[in-house]
Amino acid sequence: MTQEIAEYKTVKAEDVTTWYKAASMEAFPDNGGAAIEYKGLQIAIFNFSRRKEWYASQNLCPHKKQMILSRGMLGSEGEEPKVACPFHKKTFSLKTGNNLNGDECDLATYPVKIQDGYVYVGFSH
Ligand code: FES
Repeated sequence: MTQEIAEYKTVKAEDVTTWYKAASMEAFPDNGGAAIEYKGLQIAIFNFSRRKEWYASQNLCPHKKQMILSRGMLGSEGEEPKVACPFHKKTFSLKTGNNLNGDECDLATYPVKIQDGYVYVGFSH
């Protein structure tokens, strides 16, 4: 059972009703992230260029409620792409948002698509 912060809810690709144009691809550093705002939510978008993949999650680290995950360290655990929070190194799957330390806190994740050099994040509201 996930323990997402109330307003951050994972959106599955099939549930997307709005593709929000976040920024141009250049706004996101290689193997790093940046935060955007959508309807009062802070969303971290990750340019995982080493894997040629993009991800989005809540920017709020659920551990101590810090708005920080866009500045987290990207890596892989086996095949699983992950982000480590800079504060206490909790790690989260970028695919599922699951906490990989076995702690009771997960992230909400959002679909990302790239179109004509722009990064879009999928929301269901
Ligand atoms: S605030 Fe992110 S791991 Fe503690």
